[in-house]
Amino acid sequence: MPKLIIPDYALFGNPVNHSKSPQIHKLFSKQIDILYNYESINIPMNNFSDIIFSFFKSNGKGANITAPFKEKAYLLADRLTNSAKISKSVNTFKKINNKYILGDNTDGIGLLSDLLRLHFIEKHFSILILGAGGAVRGILFSLLSFGCSVSILNRTLLHAEKLVFEFNQFGKIDILTKNSTTNKKFDLIINATSRNINYETDFFCVSLVSSKTFFYDMNYQIGYTPFINWCIKIGAKYFSDGIGMLVFQAAHSCFLWHNILPSVNPVIKTLKKKDNF
Ligand code: ATR
Repeated sequence: MPKLIIPDYALFGNPVNHSKSPQIHKLFSKQIDILYNYESINIPMNNFSDIIFSFFKSNGKGANITAPFKEKAYLLADRLTNSAKISKSVNTFKKINNKYILGDNTDGIGLLSDLLRLHFIEKHFSILILGAGGAVRGILFSLLSFGCSVSILNRTLLHAEKLVFEFNQFGKIDILTKNSTTNKKFDLIINATSRNINYETDFFCVSLVSSKTFFYDMNYQIGYTPFINWCIKIGAKYFSDGIGMLVFQAAHSCFLWHNILPSVNPVIKTLKKKDNF
């Protein structure tokens, strides 16, 4: 029987078949001149901890964790960085001294870095976030501690309330409902909903935007995402999908593993050229 080769670094999630992460880490590996194997591994929904423990017992040195396991990963880590503790969600593991598993979350710094690269964010911006799932949990601390105020608009009010309750100690955060009456114009709108949503009927935020509003979709795909299509339809001038965030969060994982922060711009450029993002 052929021997199963276990990579030293891997992405675990469900589904991960179309993930760009192996390609990104291959480019990082070349760039920083450290050879590391990184593969994506699709795992069943029910035995996450067994799989992670056996990965680290064999070759595993580091891992990325994606949906829907980030909260499970938070519970499994032996130790946590500050950002993982605050977000209660982990997207990066590192085995330390062959003894324990450290959990980190690089999503927040990944998003903030990309917004800065695009010049889409300034301190004291008011930001509207669409969605209140796991993806939002990972980014709130970075946005609030940068100095921005955040409003959350979500289908299920209770999920938004829970986040506001947990994160209001870090800055100005409140809830917006479809029926809220406000004259406020948001500087930046971030889409953190994960499905194909009808933005016209589900999110009535046309009155909340100005000609200067920036739009950022944490999702990405070949061609425009449904959210970006909606932004274009309402006349948005400044919009971006989340491919840059993906590369930045990967760069910060690479930094945790190898102590070198790779440059992201050439990698974003390569991905965009290759896939026509
Ligand atoms: P993730 O953990 O990746 O953030 P998620 O938890 O499945 O993904 O949900 C992401 C967000 O998309 C949630 O805020 C969810 O709203 P609920 O809190 O009401 O579940 C939102 N969402 C998913 N499908 C939706 C839909 N059809 N209409 C509106 N919001 C939707």
